[in-house]
Amino acid sequence: MTHHNHPLLSVRGLSVGLSDVDGRSAHVLEDVDLTVAASESVGLVGESGSGKSVLARTVLGLHPRTTHITAQGGISFAGNELLGLTPRAHRQTLGTDVSMIFQDPSSSLNPVVRVGAQILEATHRRQSSAHQRRALLTGLLESVGLTDVERIARAYPSELSGGQRQRVGIAAALAGAPRLLMADEPTTALDVSVQRTILDLLDQLRHERSLAMIHVTHDLALLSGRSDRIIVLYAGRVMEDGPTPQVLTQPAHPYTRALMEMRPRLRRPQPLPLPQIRGDLPRLDQPRTGCPFAPRCALADTRCHSERPPTTPVPESTLGHVAACWRTVEAAALAVPLREPAGRSHP
Ligand SMILES: Nc1ncnc2c1ncn2[C@@H]1O[C@H](COP(=O)(O)OP(=O)(O)O)[C@@H](O)[C@H]1O
Ligand SMILES: [Mg+2]
Repeated sequence: MTHHNHPLLSVRGLSVGLSDVDGRSAHVLEDVDLTVAASESVGLVGESGSGKSVLARTVLGLHPRTTHITAQGGISFAGNELLGLTPRAHRQTLGTDVSMIFQDPSSSLNPVVRVGAQILEATHRRQSSAHQRRALLTGLLESVGLTDVERIARAYPSELSGGQRQRVGIAAALAGAPRLLMADEPTTALDVSVQRTILDLLDQLRHERSLAMIHVTHDLALLSGRSDRIIVLYAGRVMEDGPTPQVLTQPAHPYTRALMEMRPRLRRPQPLPLPQIRGDLPRLDQPRTGCPFAPRCALADTRCHSERPPTTPVPESTLGHVAACWRTVEAAALAVPLREPAGRSHP
């Protein structure tokens, strides 16, 4: 793998502070490193509030207009530096190379515009002929597994089921022929019965089109067999980053372990299986000292509370498996029985 030499997306030492007009402010991300190679699929995991969506929005340059942002570090896409650009220049640089699938497709689709028109809007190819556009639209709708595409193209979002709306959201995300797809909890808003089919569709599409993908989720086990790498985020910091099989079978960070042990044993995706680890995320209104997980960690010692653990290679694991923990060796040696990760097994 060459992704360390030529990443498609490279986020380096990214720290992001946000403040709102109402005076709420937070140090959301602290020194985050993340790389995604062309065609690579990365799972970004963490509890609600850990900064996953802020990270995705910062990469896209899509923060709410009322939010004031301070950011340090670097973000480059295909070699172009993005951080420090105006939001407009940022999005222009990305063009249609990066697109986003949102948790709730009804919030990203315009309720008063027919879905066909919305998808075509995203192709940025208004100059092509009506015939070409119709062919493009039909192709996109069929590629996301929709049948009766004529009717769907003419429908308004409210006339479709949740699963159909998410398929339309995916078609819109594909319309500009992106190289990187970011899916932010793409199945959380859907019925359990539909979740698996949407995940399978995303898998199929990324393989067919050699897309790189960042799959944001709070459900670690859902990534089994679906992502090449997993990055575990906690309180805005990367706790662990490594190849999916290693992270799922030999988690090196006590937080990753805790996330796994909270996972329901059932093999089907669950509705909102929010991990319930004792204690709360730390407050984000000031920078964290030490390891942010220390107050909830069974292995924490005094150093964990006072000194920030550096990100280091996990002993006796694969190249590219790293963790930010002072007690990695002890954590790995713990005699905690680890279940086989739930979810799909490797083909
Ligand atoms: N505009 C903002 N101003 C201040 N804090 C914010 C703002 N947006 C998000 N946050 C805070 O950033 C943290 C991370 O949010 P988010 O990225 O949405 O988490 P996740 O997607 O992992 O659930 C939360 O504590 C949230 O309250
Ligand atoms: Mg989120």
